[in-house]
Amino acid sequence: MNVGIDLIHFSTSDYFLGLDTFAQEKNIDVDKFYIGIGQEKMSIAPPDEDVVSLAAKAAAPILAQIDKSDISAILFATESGVDQSKSAGVFLHGLLGLSPRCRVVEFKHACYSGAAALQMATALVHMNPKEKVLVIAADIAKYDVDTSGEATQGCGAVAMLVTESPRILAIEPGSGYHTEDVMDFWRPNHRKTALVDGKYSTKVYLNSLKHSWAHFTEQTGRSFSDINHFCYHIPFTKMAEKAHHTLTRVAKVKLTHEQFLAQTQPGQVYNRIIGNSYSASLFVGFCSLLDNLKEDLQGRRVSFFSYGSGCVAEFFTGLMQPGYEKVLMTHSHQTQIAQRQPLSYAEYLAFYHQTDEAVENIEFSQANKGPYRLAGIQDHKRYYQAV
Ligand code: CAA
Repeated sequence: MNVGIDLIHFSTSDYFLGLDTFAQEKNIDVDKFYIGIGQEKMSIAPPDEDVVSLAAKAAAPILAQIDKSDISAILFATESGVDQSKSAGVFLHGLLGLSPRCRVVEFKHACYSGAAALQMATALVHMNPKEKVLVIAADIAKYDVDTSGEATQGCGAVAMLVTESPRILAIEPGSGYHTEDVMDFWRPNHRKTALVDGKYSTKVYLNSLKHSWAHFTEQTGRSFSDINHFCYHIPFTKMAEKAHHTLTRVAKVKLTHEQFLAQTQPGQVYNRIIGNSYSASLFVGFCSLLDNLKEDLQGRRVSFFSYGSGCVAEFFTGLMQPGYEKVLMTHSHQTQIAQRQPLSYAEYLAFYHQTDEAVENIEFSQANKGPYRLAGIQDHKRYYQAV
């Protein structure tokens, strides 16, 4: 039985900060961002946007195509959850009006949790093919102002419907994983922003890739040449380039410059202009590959490397299904990106600080253009609304 991604759709916010604007403000050569880290823009969430409204925006077009009462579980992966106790998925469940005959749970391990949720959903469907599981990976990446991480912020959510006989990608059994207790990026409970040992985090990422790859090849007997397309967790696109260089070195593969670009660029188009979206970024990269590679991918094998600081990593693969192109939501992805509004640095800071306030009572003025928004907080309870 094939199990995997039947439908996939992503969302991002209605605003962005250009790294040209950012570079000018900080008096830094813009090429440090355009070339050095490979980023051009960061999607910025206004105060009335959080992971729940982003998730609802990502999931709604999927639910519009199915009988939503069939959803038997929501697995919600996030680093930037909205409550220490209640799952963000339950807010989403209410907002989207899903059946009470549904279980909901939040997954956490930094940027790895989206891949974990996808694998768990796949296992649930293998156990009972009647299951239709909604996997959400949603994050708002936020670092302190004037830190090295500030240029690598961003936000986005990816919704994936996991079923038997999937129309887009069948997840293959066998994966390679690696866990190591390290402090490269973390966010203590009292903080809204992540702390990071930036250079160290890039080293641990690449080391985890080597270990996960070694485990993957042992588990599956597959080699580099068995894989047609490579998707990586993308905190910034230069990281994916470094990852692919590392993989080719470890696998002892020589690629021409053109082959290297062909294997990496289509999966980075969106990430370069959205920024980091933590748990979602690997799957934003997958959407980027599907929407931007103008070739027939049917029957091709795609690999996924997920890295979550702290750290947990996994390397796994899937096979593209016949007719997948008929169910892609490319137009929605591209329209959302194109319609974003640019922010000045001062406007970005205003959003940044208002979102940061610890409030028990607030009604947000509307900046989020919908279709769902965080309307306010009353007595510490969050209220959402359809726009
Ligand atoms: N023109 C061209 N290139 C330039 C340049 C210029 N004018 N100026 C600098 N560069 C290059 C540098 O040579 C460097 O290239 P290499 O990495 O190939 O050496 C690159 O631009 C970055 O420059 P710096 O190293 O000086 O940049 P920095 O000190 O500001 O830090 C960073 C970069 C550590 C990645 C920082 O952005 C950061 O801390 N980011 C957050 C953490 C992160 O994303 N880590 C990734 C791995 S962890 C992970 O993946 C989980 C997650 O999502 C957080």
